[in-house]
Amino acid sequence: MLSIVILISGSGSNMQAIVRAAKAEQWSERYNANICAVISNRSDAKGLAWASAQEIQTEVVDHKAYATRALFDAALQTAIDAHKPQLVVLAGFMRILGSGFVQHFEGRMLNIHPSLLPAFTGLHTHQRAIEAGCRFAGATVHRVTPVLDEGEILAQAVVPVLNDDNEDTLAARVLTQEHLIYPAAIRKIIKTLCIPNNS
Ligand code: GRF
Repeated sequence: MLSIVILISGSGSNMQAIVRAAKAEQWSERYNANICAVISNRSDAKGLAWASAQEIQTEVVDHKAYATRALFDAALQTAIDAHKPQLVVLAGFMRILGSGFVQHFEGRMLNIHPSLLPAFTGLHTHQRAIEAGCRFAGATVHRVTPVLDEGEILAQAVVPVLNDDNEDTLAARVLTQEHLIYPAAIRKIIKTLCIPNNS
């Protein structure tokens, strides 16, 4: 069985889109791939309750409980490794991860970023795109490397920036596209990794 662990920090709408796609497209039956856990650094992340209701195992590794970033990274790594995942999916996970952690999962960790990378790495991407006068914005699914928001681009979606857009309206338009490209990018990967059902 190919195991997928999803990391969230908030509403987890991308996680929900991935779980819905996995069910609708029968990833378990067709690709022998299973979303085996949703892990959050925040106990109040709304997505946790939703994942539990879908009978997905949930866990909290609270970053505030660790004195240093290295200790948090180590605890998070242990929690993820327990599931022996072939794929670690960052879905609105709002902690910067240390290079040792990233190297441990390199090649099997994905992220979605709400901009057309390599433009607008970091935070406040929609506001910065509006202020820069961009006519188009979007989202990028990429592999995670130790450099923030870098790494191989796997999928992108483009949306127009409208004259009366503000940060929220643009974010909402981009988010609807995130919910399409992230499940599609994951499906493409698990198809290539597909382990026969009898193993
Ligand atoms: C999304 O725009 C995602 O790209 C960013 O955080 C936002 C919230 O995501 N990293 P979600 O609703 O928690 O999936």
